[in-house]
Amino acid sequence: MSEAQQPKVYETKVVHINPDSFKDDEIAEAARLLRDGELVGMPTETVYGLAANAFNSTAVAHIFEAKGRPQDNPLIVHVSDMAMLEKVVDHIPERARLLAEHFWPGPLTMIFQKRIEGGVPPCVTAGLNTVAVRFPVHPVARRLIALSGVPIAAPSANVSGKPSPTLASHVLHDMAGRIPMIVDGGACDFGVESTVVDVECAAAGGLPIILRPGGLTLERIREVLPETDVYSAAKFGGEMAKRPPTPGLKYRHYAPKAPVYLYDPRAPPQEFTFTRRMAEAVGAHIDSYEGKRIGLIKAHTGSDAWDYESLLKRAKIEVTRTIGDERGSIDDVERGLFDALRFMDERNVDVIFAEGVSDIGPGLAIMNRFKKAAFETIDLSLIK
Ligand code: TXA
Ligand code: MG
Repeated sequence: MSEAQQPKVYETKVVHINPDSFKDDEIAEAARLLRDGELVGMPTETVYGLAANAFNSTAVAHIFEAKGRPQDNPLIVHVSDMAMLEKVVDHIPERARLLAEHFWPGPLTMIFQKRIEGGVPPCVTAGLNTVAVRFPVHPVARRLIALSGVPIAAPSANVSGKPSPTLASHVLHDMAGRIPMIVDGGACDFGVESTVVDVECAAAGGLPIILRPGGLTLERIREVLPETDVYSAAKFGGEMAKRPPTPGLKYRHYAPKAPVYLYDPRAPPQEFTFTRRMAEAVGAHIDSYEGKRIGLIKAHTGSDAWDYESLLKRAKIEVTRTIGDERGSIDDVERGLFDALRFMDERNVDVIFAEGVSDIGPGLAIMNRFKKAAFETIDLSLIK
């Protein structure tokens, strides 16, 4: 590599912003950097984004470099109002208009036909004739996009293959030296990425399909578009299996270093039965890990019905992380999921046992990410 091609090394500056009360001045430098073609770590309600001016091909190329992202995985374009949307899409289908009315701004990304004349450059969309667009609700993201004055291309701000960042410290861990600035707006509200919907999915006969479950649940989308389905290779064999409708599906994601064994309750859990079975299954598995560092991720949605303590003692598990709470809030599981996976990396565990949740409501996105992180998923309904 010649010297001219060496990536620039930055002293990454972290700017703290209170999302509930801030002035334009505080994010003016970030907006200027974006306009000038630099990358900025940006808080959103889902996960932190690695933001760049979507009209600037050089800046977009730097996103791929900084993340180590495969060139054929397209980026989401973020807008701060509907006028900006019209600059990047060819037209707005009726179903997209409906979903936008109900759920924008918010954790929803939609696939549109890309605007040809004056639209975003091909590197943003990996050469596809469609473009993914999202209108985030996070006040800092919205204002930052508006102040920069341009649509913002932003994938999650993690190194490719690692769990998405839900705290500014995660972004700093992955991007220190690679970007000039991170705007720290605190913890992300949702903790998983946006729901990606193709409202006219060709491979599904023109029906609306969720390509990636996320912060906005299937149930809520069906209140507006009851015909909506979720992509799965099994259900949509043939055309869709040969050519996944979203390039991101091809890649392994969200993985910590150690193998994750995920315990899937399958049916809506009778909490007591599930946690007892999980404890038994982990117990049976655990003897082969003698002398190893074992991590346990407890979803803890009401699972205080079972006494984990005896399992922990028996298995000599030293590293545990509880991501739900005693009240059984699934939103807390969602919010804490990626942080828990990163925590296990930090503690250098050799193996991770993780408690899944049933896949209704936010559970669908949680289990989608968990399964991508998992080395093996164990169906607890098959264990007597
Ligand atoms: O919540 C989010 O969506 C976050 C925040 C930062 O907004 N962003 C995010 O971006 O998760 P990323 O790059 O990590 O994931 C984008 C996903 C990928 O799976 C990609 O393949 C898919 O969207 N995608 C992008 N453009 C597409 C297109 N034209 N057609 C189908 N899928 C597309
Ligand atoms: Mg990502």
